[in-house]
Amino acid sequence: MKRIGVMSGGGDAAGMNAALRAVVRTAWSKGAEVVGVNRGWLGLSEGDAEVLGSGAVSGIIDRGGTILRTFRYPEFQEAAGQEKVRAQLQKLRLEGLVIIGGDGSFRGGHVLDHELGLPVIGVPATIDNDIPGTDHSIGFDTALNIAIDAVDKIRDTATSHGRIFVVEVMGRSCGLLAIQCGIGCGAEEVLVPEIPYDLDEICRRIEKGYNRGKRHAIMIVAEGAARASYITYEMKNRLQRPIRMMVLGHLQRGGSPSAFDRILATRLGNYATEQLFEGARGVMVGLVANKFKTGPLRKTSCALDKVVAQYAALQRLLA
Ligand code: F6P
Repeated sequence: MKRIGVMSGGGDAAGMNAALRAVVRTAWSKGAEVVGVNRGWLGLSEGDAEVLGSGAVSGIIDRGGTILRTFRYPEFQEAAGQEKVRAQLQKLRLEGLVIIGGDGSFRGGHVLDHELGLPVIGVPATIDNDIPGTDHSIGFDTALNIAIDAVDKIRDTATSHGRIFVVEVMGRSCGLLAIQCGIGCGAEEVLVPEIPYDLDEICRRIEKGYNRGKRHAIMIVAEGAARASYITYEMKNRLQRPIRMMVLGHLQRGGSPSAFDRILATRLGNYATEQLFEGARGVMVGLVANKFKTGPLRKTSCALDKVVAQYAALQRLLA
């Protein structure tokens, strides 16, 4: 291979730049030219891309976001969007493409690979960690640390005032970020989309906790389970206790990647590029029990088994 492309897609995740750096440097070490596609799928459909020159990926390992930028582009699911991309691909003359992104990007990558004939390798990067085939996706650890740090601070004020705090975290339709945040900050309750919950029962438990001498209650709500505003409203109707809420939102996506994410991104970016040069295509790379794996790009629905196992562990801790 003499010329490959690299792009980021979907929501940005801390560590995407570290992955980009590893992809580019691995390809350079093999004598190939690397084209950086700007603005994700939108940029690909408009041919917004350029050859990355020496120094293009220097000094980015610690930077959050993605220097290639990213854009959600649902039009690629339609035939017209795919035609636009096909036309640009001919001009770009790529022999392969590494996509750093989440499940939506991998679905697009599958179309590129299977229907438009371009060899594609996916590098999992999303704060949601909802991709089967890897224990961790790039950006999850950083987002988790941000959320835990925020809850630690909230607990100080919650305890001082004896308040209940409902904290909404991201994760789309996956509860892993909420569960691990709950475990990491010792939350009283965690709501996730995958497991049904009973608010009456939760309120009874919280009341019991206060009666045992607790001075606060922290409830982590995955955005896919319910909105914090709704839960807060419902709890106010059930409990005679002061309640506040906070939505962490996009704060969880920004900032410098954690050491874990930098190293994960570097290893996965390097492995993905090695795989591409060895002829792999239509796959995503992952690390499972610290071993590199490749798996299909398309099999990307929320990692339900991980959620159920971790939720069970959380319940044991709460008991
Ligand atoms: O997939 C990453 C994610 O941050 C989700 O957790 C969240 O639901 C979604 O993206 C938000 O998307 P947007 O940045 O388009 O508002």
